[in-house]
Amino acid sequence: MTEITISKPNFDGAEKAAVAEVLDSGMLAQGPKVFEFEKQFAEYIGTNHAIATSSGTTAIHLALLGLGIKPGDEVITTPFTFIATATPILFCGARPVFVDIDPKTFNIDPQKLEAAITDKTKAIIPVHLYGQPAAMDPIVELAQAHELVVIEDACQAHGAKYHGKSIGSIGDCGCFSFYPTKNMTTSEGGMVTTNDSEMAENLALLRNHGQLQRYDYNMIGYNFRMTDISAAIGIVQLSKLEQFTEKRIINAKKLTEGMEDVVGVPYIAPDVRHVFHQYTIKQSSRDGLRSALEAAGIGSGIYYPKSLHQLPVFQDHITEGYSAPVAEEVSSEVLSLPVHPGLSEEDIEKIINTVKDFIQQ
Ligand SMILES: Cc1ncc(COP(=O)(O)O)c(C=O)c1O
Repeated sequence: MTEITISKPNFDGAEKAAVAEVLDSGMLAQGPKVFEFEKQFAEYIGTNHAIATSSGTTAIHLALLGLGIKPGDEVITTPFTFIATATPILFCGARPVFVDIDPKTFNIDPQKLEAAITDKTKAIIPVHLYGQPAAMDPIVELAQAHELVVIEDACQAHGAKYHGKSIGSIGDCGCFSFYPTKNMTTSEGGMVTTNDSEMAENLALLRNHGQLQRYDYNMIGYNFRMTDISAAIGIVQLSKLEQFTEKRIINAKKLTEGMEDVVGVPYIAPDVRHVFHQYTIKQSSRDGLRSALEAAGIGSGIYYPKSLHQLPVFQDHITEGYSAPVAEEVSSEVLSLPVHPGLSEEDIEKIINTVKDFIQQ
């Protein structure tokens, strides 16, 4: 049995009390708690608006719809990410165009971006993978030069910063996930952040059947709403996010100090706040290490075992013969170790010692 899990939602009585209050109110669907959560989240990220959704996937879908992505368009993104970065591009009838990653940060390589831009390109979705900010300056510069919109996939990067700016406030939209393994959770849930008031209004309509007022519809909309139960959990979790993040950063530092002599530890780009959604090492004998960790009761994860361009769902949409050599190599070697705020000193020592024993055996 795994004793040290790869992730663990962190709750106390406050989340339980907040959920009980909503249940007692009898108003469970999108209501005052959602609006309060949106206001607080926008303030935390430093954007004028935040629009809560049912998941990170629907947040990305909503942002693409709001930015007018339609059949025939191309959207550039990284192939080394969770599938839900790219499936919303397909939901809009557009084509995902994958650009290989930087071998150090594992994020989209800005130097390879320009070559992928065509007259059909409408948007770029950089992903801040594992909580490490993507290279936003060159990405935004290129986007502006080619009149493209930028949607940040910040699903793993709550509280991360790039050159002093909050992730989710740099592109046209930021998209967050509050899935239970994330740095903060609402059970299931998501959020789109933006500074554009017109777009925020449009997104709020699109997520709720296009309803201006009850039964007054002015567009074809979706049900992408968050519930007040989820938002009540989110408000409490947001109040603890900085504390959680500091603990993740400290845990990551200890893991790195303990293991840097024996394995490829995570790189941190200059002038960023990496929030360590995952602590990911590179190890050629990954499978053996994973078994050794499991035998010691330590959970681990492979995020992600395949680059998206290798998955069957994307085969009809990519250029024949396309390859992403860096993403392919990295996906065969990455292994994420527990770094969540619930780890004790002993847990961290046990992880370090198990990794070292395996490598040095
Ligand atoms: C990078 C990335 N994008 C998108 C998503 C989708 O979020 P959700 O699971 O909340 O739909 C996730 C999380 O699972 C993610 O990690």
